Amino acid sequence: MGGEKAKNSSLREPFLNELSPVDSVAGLEELRVRYLGKKGLLTSELKSLGGLPPDERRAAGAVLNETKEFIEQALAQRKQELKDLELRRKLASESIDVTLPGSYVQPGRIHPLTQTLEEITDVFVSMGFSVEEGPEVELDYYNFEALNIPKEHPAREMQDTFYVSNDIVLRTHTSPVQIRVMQRKSPPLKFIAPGKVYRCDADISHTPMFHQIEGLMVGEDITFSHLKAVLESFLHRIFSPDVPVRFRPSYFPFTEPSAEVDIGCIFCKGTGCRTCKGSGWIEILGAGMVNPHVFEMVGYDPKKYSGFAFGMGIERIAMLKYSIDDIRLFYENDIRFLGQF
Ligand code: PHE
Repeated sequence: MGGEKAKNSSLREPFLNELSPVDSVAGLEELRVRYLGKKGLLTSELKSLGGLPPDERRAAGAVLNETKEFIEQALAQRKQELKDLELRRKLASESIDVTLPGSYVQPGRIHPLTQTLEEITDVFVSMGFSVEEGPEVELDYYNFEALNIPKEHPAREMQDTFYVSNDIVLRTHTSPVQIRVMQRKSPPLKFIAPGKVYRCDADISHTPMFHQIEGLMVGEDITFSHLKAVLESFLHRIFSPDVPVRFRPSYFPFTEPSAEVDIGCIFCKGTGCRTCKGSGWIEILGAGMVNPHVFEMVGYDPKKYSGFAFGMGIERIAMLKYSIDDIRLFYENDIRFLGQF
C-alpha cells in the first residue's frame, strides 16, 4: 500500500516541473488535458483503481483525488497569475501622464490669395458672370497669335515668356482663355477666368508665377459704358464704395480702345505717398473693347458683335487690400504670416 501511495503522489513532481515554464493560458490548458483529460495521466491512474483490492483502492483513491485537487488548484492559481501579469503589462504600456500638456492641432485657414480670389469671383458671379478655366501650358497660338500678337510683335517683349518649345509656352496671362471659350461657344458670353500665369521676373512685387483674373463680355451692342459700369461697381465692392476710379488710355494688341484702370490711393486718400509713388493713384487692371481682329480669329462677326475684356493680378489686389508690401510672403508658407488672415 505504501508503494501505491508513493507512486500516486509522484505525479505531483513531474506536474510541477511541467507547470513552471508555462506562460500562457493556452499552455495551461494543454497541461490540464495532459493530466486531467480523458486520457490524461491522472485520469488513467484513477481508471486503473478498479483493478486493486478494495482496501488498497480506498487509500489509493484518496491520494489520487488529493493530487487531482492539487493539480486543479495549481492550474487555477497560475491562470490567475498569468491574467494579473498581462493586466499589469498592459497598464504599464498604456500608462498616460495626465499632467502632460495635450497635443495642439493647429486649425487650417484659407490662404489670403484664395480668399481674395473667392471674394472677386463672388462679385462677378453676382453680376451674372460664369467661371471658365484654361491650360497653364499653352500654345503660342492662344497666348499670342490669336490675341493679335504675331511673332516679332514688340508687345511680346512686354511679357517675359517661359518657352517650353518653339510653339508652346507657360501662359503669360489669362487672356488665352478668351480665345478658347469663344472658339467653343457663341455669343452672348459673360465670364471670368481665374488662374496661374508665368513670367520670367522676380523682385518684391513680381514672382515667376502669379495669379490673374480675366473677364470677357461679348454680345450685341456692348459698349465702353458697360465696361465702365462693371469695373466701377466691382472696384467699389472690393475696395470701398467711395474709392475714385479712373480710366487711362493705354495699349493692348487684343483690345481697341484700351485702358488702364486706376483707383485713388487707398493709403493716402490721393494726397500722395510711397505706395502710389506720390501720384495719388494706383493702377489696378488692364481693360478695353475686344479688338475686331480677335473676333475674326475666332469666327465671330465683328460687325454684329462687340465686347469688352479686362485682366487683373490677384496678388496685387490682395496686397492692397491687406497692406502687404512683399509679394513673396504669399508663397513662403510662414504660418505667422498666413495666420493673420
Ligand atoms: N492680359 C493683359 C495683361 O496680362 C491684361 C488685359 C486683359 C488687358 C484683358 C486688356 C484686356 O497684361
